[in-house]
Amino acid sequence: MESLGGLKRTHYCGDLRESNIGEEVVLMGWVQKKRNLGGLVFVDLRDIRGICQIVFDTDVSKEAFEKAEKLGSEYVIAIKGKVLERQSKNPNMPTGDIEIFANQIKILNKSETPPIYIKDDDEVSENLRLKYRYLDLRKSSMQKNLILRHKVANIVRNYLSDNNFLEIETPFLNKPTPEGARDYLVPSRVNEGKFYALPQSPQLFKQLLMVSGMDRYFQIVKCFRDEDLRADRQPEFTQIDCEMSFVEIDDVIDVMEKMLQKIFKQISNVDIELPFPRMTYKESMERYGCDKPDVRFGFELKNISDIVKDCGFKVFSSAVENGGSVRGINVKGHADKFTRKNITSLEDYAKNYGAKGLAWMKVTDEGVTSPIAKFFDEEKMNSILKTMEASEGDLILFVADTNKVVFDSLGNLRNEVAKRLEILDKNEFKLLWVTEFPLFEHDEEENRYVAMHHPFTSPMDEDLANLDNDKLNVRAKAYDIVLNGFEIGGGSIRISNADIQKKMFDALGFSEEEAYDKFGFLLDAFKFGTPPHGGIAFGLDRLVMLLAGEDNIRQVIAFPKTQNASCPMTNAPAVAEDKQLEELNIKVELEEK
Ligand code: AMO
Ligand code: AMP
Repeated sequence: MESLGGLKRTHYCGDLRESNIGEEVVLMGWVQKKRNLGGLVFVDLRDIRGICQIVFDTDVSKEAFEKAEKLGSEYVIAIKGKVLERQSKNPNMPTGDIEIFANQIKILNKSETPPIYIKDDDEVSENLRLKYRYLDLRKSSMQKNLILRHKVANIVRNYLSDNNFLEIETPFLNKPTPEGARDYLVPSRVNEGKFYALPQSPQLFKQLLMVSGMDRYFQIVKCFRDEDLRADRQPEFTQIDCEMSFVEIDDVIDVMEKMLQKIFKQISNVDIELPFPRMTYKESMERYGCDKPDVRFGFELKNISDIVKDCGFKVFSSAVENGGSVRGINVKGHADKFTRKNITSLEDYAKNYGAKGLAWMKVTDEGVTSPIAKFFDEEKMNSILKTMEASEGDLILFVADTNKVVFDSLGNLRNEVAKRLEILDKNEFKLLWVTEFPLFEHDEEENRYVAMHHPFTSPMDEDLANLDNDKLNVRAKAYDIVLNGFEIGGGSIRISNADIQKKMFDALGFSEEEAYDKFGFLLDAFKFGTPPHGGIAFGLDRLVMLLAGEDNIRQVIAFPKTQNASCPMTNAPAVAEDKQLEELNIKVELEEK
């Protein structure tokens, strides 16, 4: 017995239209729904391209009708029949003008009752969806997302190939990489007691490929980072990783923004103007409180420190005295949408980011309503309102603290307010480059400087003199690409001069020996003729998430991990067998918590 019953698929369910009327077709797919109306059985048959209606009529084939009567949800069937104009048309379905009168059916496989409905708006826990991911992926929304992802990857691959980038694979079993997050370690059996690290990115290899003369490299590649997960972070995720030789910042930006323009045109039919706007890190922090601003809306931060530095409200004046600042955002025209209770809830939100409170003012037709109005004379109040560009109907929110806390809390609050006001349009795409990042950050915990991007990022030529004594005032030749408040990519021009690289390691607190131990192979390679080079990596998952209008990258990853980096379907990670551990010379001792 042939497994397909001698039938050969002629069409996909979702493709049939009025133009097919009269044709004899063979379809294969899953039973979405079955209705039995006495002499007629109606089946909604589903495949990757869509759903169409099959009619089993005793008058056409009694045998097929009787088989159809026994169908259950998610049975896999093949049918043969004739496409007819549908009796009662369904304008909500692409195939709603036709139906197929089946004269033959073959049940290819039965199905148990599935634990989740194959329906887009079915509300089940995400854990259950992930446990039965293969069923979850039968939903048209999920299939649409993965098709979109495939299309984006295809556009990227074609575009980069057309622009002389070579796709070259780099190893997964590596020495630890210098990026910020924790590594996933893999024990080596043959090298007792030693470990590989899975790549956080192919950074060093792509630079070595430039030393090799490959000129332009790209890879659509898995990266692994053991970090705390969020809606836009997975422990394994995919980068579109690129590197180019003989380039400066503008060259990288030029090639990459053309690629993004192409993606938006081909995927969303959106025309994005070139060049994308650019904003320095400093300006981005001042105006938006963060380095990945969502510029689809206003509510920009304003600094009122100078006005309030000697006012009677101690919270404000002492913040300025202690070297911090007082800044606010004007939620323009939305004062009426925020009750005191709403504002308290915003205050709680701001506190998550370190704010100690949230001061507010409402501008009404009778003047300013605010618990802190009493601290400002008329002149000061007018200055505040002027700086905040306030007018009737506005709600102004202030935070006083160190600059770090002020930026962090107001930057996040700004996004949160826009979210609560539901003013964000998912179909609007605002891209911008953020440039001139600081080369270093100061790590308070470890009391040392760390590279903000990575240790191979070149300082800006203008700031080289500050490398020794004024590290926090060295800007980097680094750039991020930001889309609607998400960092969808980042890169830099690399250091290709051995002296500067040495200075960089000094600044990061690596002795020559340590630097050699960690990155000796790269430093050695750099001795043999290194072309000036630079590159970028995009987060494919994030890009696709935004293109798909989703809020979580799990929605665009076939088999993602949960919040605690596990997989409810396979139950990874799991305890290893004793034999495996023995071979690896590994003993597991768990401390009682
Ligand atoms: P970076 O660390 O900025 O740069 O990573 C590049 C882009 O990858 C995405 N991304 C992630 N996406 C999902 N889950 C994660 N855990 C995650 N971490 C990062 C982001 C980010 O912008 N080697 C450098 C690039 C270079 O300099 O060329 C690098 O990895 O969208
Ligand atoms: P308090 O005098 O502490 O009751 O605070 C008066 C108002 O100022 C309240 O609305 C607080 O939320 C707000 N507030 C307190 N600390 C801060 C701060 N660091 N920044 C902004 N507002 C604050």
